[in-house]
Order: sequence, then structure tokens, then C-alpha cells
Amino acid sequence: MFVCWQTSIAIFMPMRNTYYITTPIYYINDVPHIGHAYTNIVSDVMARYMRLSGKDVKFLTGTDEHGQKIERAAKAANKNPQDFADDVSVVFRNLCDVLHISNDDFIRTTEDRHKITVRRIWEQLYQNGDIYLGKYSGWYAVRDEAFYDEGELVDGKAPTGALVEWVEEDSYFFALSKYTEKLLHLYSRNTEFIKPRHRYNEVVSFVRRGLKDIAISRTTFQWGIKVPNISHEGGVSHVIYVWLDALTNYLSAVDYYNADKKPDISELVIDGGLDSQAQSGAINVSGNLRRFWPADLHVVGKDILRFHAVYWPAFLMSADIELPKCIVAHGWWMNEGHKISKSLGNVIDPVALVNEFGIDPVRYFLLREMSFGQDGNFARQSLIARNNNELCNKLGNLVHRVLVFICNNTNAQVPHIQDIGEIYNSDLIQYAIATREKVKAFMQSLELTYALSSVFDLIDHANAYIDTSAPWKLKNLDINMMNVVLYVLVEAIRYIAILLIPFIPVSANKILDLLCVPQNERMLNKLESSCALSSYHSVVKNPEPLFKNIIIKDVT
Ligand code: MSP
Repeated sequence: MFVCWQTSIAIFMPMRNTYYITTPIYYINDVPHIGHAYTNIVSDVMARYMRLSGKDVKFLTGTDEHGQKIERAAKAANKNPQDFADDVSVVFRNLCDVLHISNDDFIRTTEDRHKITVRRIWEQLYQNGDIYLGKYSGWYAVRDEAFYDEGELVDGKAPTGALVEWVEEDSYFFALSKYTEKLLHLYSRNTEFIKPRHRYNEVVSFVRRGLKDIAISRTTFQWGIKVPNISHEGGVSHVIYVWLDALTNYLSAVDYYNADKKPDISELVIDGGLDSQAQSGAINVSGNLRRFWPADLHVVGKDILRFHAVYWPAFLMSADIELPKCIVAHGWWMNEGHKISKSLGNVIDPVALVNEFGIDPVRYFLLREMSFGQDGNFARQSLIARNNNELCNKLGNLVHRVLVFICNNTNAQVPHIQDIGEIYNSDLIQYAIATREKVKAFMQSLELTYALSSVFDLIDHANAYIDTSAPWKLKNLDINMMNVVLYVLVEAIRYIAILLIPFIPVSANKILDLLCVPQNERMLNKLESSCALSSYHSVVKNPEPLFKNIIIKDVT
């Protein structure tokens, strides 16, 4: 067995410089919307921040392609499910490019590396005595791909508002009830396992009410991974429940199938043989499991926390696999005060938004407007206001004023100063150093919005510093003092830009390009005096403004 979840902490925890972060994998029954974009962007912020801190990062996203929902969507589109999946999955992959998501893997649940892993996990649960055959009769919401008890229904619908159908079918069950105490023990031993705290409390009280065994196979449709070996027991063919299938993606992407034995490739014949990746030998690549598992962070929306914080750790305990370190749940976006839904016709297309406003205004708005972990409201006016007031007038103006002044007065060079110590003693640089520490602490505790707003506090301080120190006056009064002021400002801008890389990577890198900061100097550990730009270092002449003011058109 790969590793025991109870004892392995001592094996993997020390000296690990890797960071494995995942987004949920997206259902492909529909095209991407703002919720998908948000999950991707917050995960990207964490991934980029960890890289900035020098970590060896694996950042995974992908698509969830099996199950009844997809089977029905394919049928409605008059396509076979695999062709349908191929067509829509690529739309999600392209969204990553549009949003500047820095994922280094994209998994599809129809890939062989995943199918092999799911079957393997199934076998481990089975061997551990946690799977038994039974009959499920109850409610099922295809939209949520979730089973519901009668008592959970609200006005005849799932608590999420999804329509439910009565289902009676042969099913394999997973003995989740066996894990109630073990899960409670996990939560009490590791209070950081679920974040934020109010979500942790919700999960704990849910589990305290006691867990029931859950159905983990379906027999009334075909589009899924077949249950291995035992799939024809009783003459009925079972496919693995899509949530057990989907959650396992986090292991598939770190080559779990290759943990300690070669996969039984013959099994795949049932599903149509190996794909090209598997045939090319990529399937034998190992090392990723040791390098990246356990995952450091699963980022999920609040609606799917239960699957990640209850089912997933129980499956992993049963399979004797080390648990992820943390699951963080973010809130949901509303659109101008209304719940977002296709039937209301108010779904927000992230690609259209980026085309209209540009990537960084969209990323900035989403990250700043919704306090991470809470729900948020999408309003065009607020996006425009934040772009104009914060990106243009605060950040853009600061950079532009300083660089234009340097171009015009110090020959586009960092000014000459006698003593870097004097710079580092200035209030503004002390504030920049304090901001660096605040950002570190906020990012560590996953308070992304606070981290971002603290950089903007620094921007406010820098703008105030220009106004009070008035370099345009010093030019005629005290040239040395003017140089000191400009040096302080350049250094503050360097701090600001590096700290902003995770949030608005395009603009942050543009600022660093203007300052001619080499790529390998764009790291968190370069934020200190010994890495300050030297006197006479050239910056780019005649810089263009970074952001455009958005004019609100009259709607008459
Ligand atoms: N396929 C499952 C996840 C499996 S992970 C092993 C799924 N997919 S989803 O496409 O429906 O949702 C993906 C993510 O989008 C979830 O984290 C969900 O919370 C998020 N969002 C969907 N609508 C949202 C909003 N309106 N606002 C914010 N995020 C929301 O669930």
C-alpha cells in the first residue's frame, strides 16, 4: 500500500517545498460561467503566490465528464457522450487561457490515467470491506448528481433548488457510517482542515448528526467508469457514482495508478482501450505522487464542500491514503442581486467580460469585490468603478507619475543616492516591508481579499507620499532630496508590482517590465534592500498608461 493516512504525516511533512493545489473539475453539460471563472482565478492566485514564494507548484484543473447529467446533455445535443465531452472540455481548457490561469495540468475524467485510478481506488475500498451490494431507493438530483433523503427536500426539490427524481436501482454502497467518528476525530485534531471557520463548523455539525452509507454505483444509465471485476454481479452492469469518479481525479493527476504496481491494462478493454497518452508510455512516469501528494489545497465552492470534506476523506481513509491538508470553500456570486441561473437568463459569460474590460480589471474586481469565503454580488457598475478608481486612479497613476517624472528628470534612470539605508528607513519603505509581511500572513491563512487590499493600502501610502514630498518642488530646492524621494518611490513600486503578480499578473509584469526588473528577480525573496534596483539602472522611456478609464455609456 502506498501510505497510511494515520502515520504518514511524519514521512511527508518535513522539508517539503512542493505545493499541490486543485480546482474542482467542471461539469461539461454547459459552457463556463462566472462561478467557474472565479474558482479558477482564486486557485490561480494561490498557485502563483506559492511559485512567487519559491515553491515547486502543481496546479491542477480539468473537466468532470461522466454521469447522468452529461449523458443527458449529450443526448439533447444529439451527440455521443465522448464526442460531446471532447467538444465542451476544450471550451473549459480555453477559458484557462483567457483568464491567464497558470495550471500545469488539465485532467479529463475520460482519460485512461483517470479511469485506471478510479478502478484502483474502488478495489481498495472493496478490499477494505467498505463496499457492499444493496438497493437504493430515494431521491436523486441529476443537476447536483446527488442523492437526497426525503427529509432534506424543500418544497419537493433538493435543498439546492434542483429538481429531484425518484430512483430505485441496484447499487453498491460505501460504508460511510463507519467513518463518522474517524472524521470527527480528524476535524478536531486538525481544525485547519476546512476553511473558512464557519464552513468548518457547518461540516462538523453535519457529521455529528451521524452519517449514512452512500450509494456509489448506478445501474440505470451507462455513461461512466465500469465497476471493476464485479460489474456484472446479478446480471446488472454498474457504473461508478460520478462523485467517487470525480474526486479521484486529484490522485489520477499525480500518477496514483503507478504508485506501486503496473496498472492492469486489460481492464481498459471494456472502455475501449488505451488512449494515446497511455500508449506513448507517459503512463509509466512516476514520482509525482511522492512529490505532490498529499494535496495542499483543494479549492471548492460552498455547494460542493460536503463531497470534499466528508466523502473524500472517508474514501481516502478507507483506501489507506494520506489526506489532503486543507479544503477551502468560497462563496457564490449573485448577478445584480439575483441568483444566477440559466432559467433566469442572467448567466455571466466570463469570456465576454474579459473581451469587454480586459483580463486584469475582471480578475481584480472578482478578487476584491467578494470577500473570500463570503457570497458576492456582481454588478457592472462596481466593476467599472473599481477599474476607474482603484486600478486607473490609484495604481496606474502612481506608476505613470513616477516613471514619467524619472524619464523627464533623471534621464529614465533610477536616481543616484548615497545610502540605501536612508531609503530603507523611510516610512514608505517600512510600510512596504510591513505590507510584504501582511500579504504573507493573509495568503497563509487564505485571506486573499485582505492580502490584495493591503497592497492597495500601500498604493494609497505611496500616492500620499508623492503629494507630501512633492518631487517637482524639490527639483529646484534640493536635488539630493528629490533623488531620495524618487528612489523610495521606485522601490515601493517594485514591492507593489511583485506583490500583485498573483492577483493581476499581466499588469504587475508590465510594471516590472517598465522598471526593467529581470524575470528571475520577480520573486518574494527579492523584496529586500540588497535586491533594490541600483542607481543609474535604466527604466523604459515614455511609458504608456497601464489601465484605461472606462466611460459609462448613457443608456437612454
Ligand atoms: N463537477 C463538480 C465538481 C467535482 S470536483 C471533484 C461540480 N462542477 S460545477 O461545474 O458544477 O461547479 C464547479 C465550481 O463552480 C464549484 O466550485 C462551484 O461552487 C462553482 N460555482 C458554480 N456556480 C457558482 C457561482 N454562481 N458562484 C461561484 N461559484 C460557483 O460541482
